[in-house]
Amino acid sequence: MNSSKISIIDTHAHLDGEEFDSDRDAVIARAAEAGIGRIITCGTSVEASEKAIALAEKYPAVYAAVGIHPQEIAGVKKTEISRIATLAKHPRVVAIGEMGLDFHRSVVYKDEQIKGLKWQLELAGELQLPVILHNRQATNEMIEILSGWVQKATADSPGVIHCFQENADNARIFLNMGFYLAFGGYIGYPKSQMAEVIKIVPQDRLVVETDCPYLPPQKYRGQRNEPAYIKLTVEKMAEIRGTNIETMAKITSENAERLFKLK
Ligand code: NI
Repeated sequence: MNSSKISIIDTHAHLDGEEFDSDRDAVIARAAEAGIGRIITCGTSVEASEKAIALAEKYPAVYAAVGIHPQEIAGVKKTEISRIATLAKHPRVVAIGEMGLDFHRSVVYKDEQIKGLKWQLELAGELQLPVILHNRQATNEMIEILSGWVQKATADSPGVIHCFQENADNARIFLNMGFYLAFGGYIGYPKSQMAEVIKIVPQDRLVVETDCPYLPPQKYRGQRNEPAYIKLTVEKMAEIRGTNIETMAKITSENAERLFKLK
């Protein structure tokens, strides 16, 4: 396979993480070398969102998403959402997120998570930007909240369910609401059951992501993940869909361009 022929978009990275402090330039250079032409780096707090924008200003391949992650939402004030609203107007910002619900690691702040999610969804609707959603063990609440919101979302697409690990029935519910589904390196883990889901997603709703530095592909498990490794995910997805890596790269890149209006 000739990497000069493929162009992949990593739709979800956390390049601001301290894990990249010592070699960020090299990480981004390796991504370019491997055919990862564009990377969306996602904020998880006001501070991380500011860093995401700074990275998008520094590196032409990097775009930013701004938002507050459910694990950072405890005690959040509406003034912080206002700050996100201001940051979102930056020309390199393509989405609001990472936002969502995570009842796996924390149910203590359930009400605050729901409030923070609703504030950010409202903001995305006002700004007509797609959302990047984190959903962990909160599917019923997530579906209920989103179904009331999607009408106000952007005309093109409301956004993407990041790190999709639900069953096919839930995939259909999110797809029917207009969402794209993003898959990462975990689709190649031996116990992954994502093949059955990936097969039923319409071609124009599939995108790929690393969620780096987290969730490395099987080959790099236990190590730091980085955008260059996304090729393994595209390769796995191509295998599941019965196509080749070039076609899968093209499809997922066109989808990401459309979703985040990268052109
Ligand atoms: Ni993430």
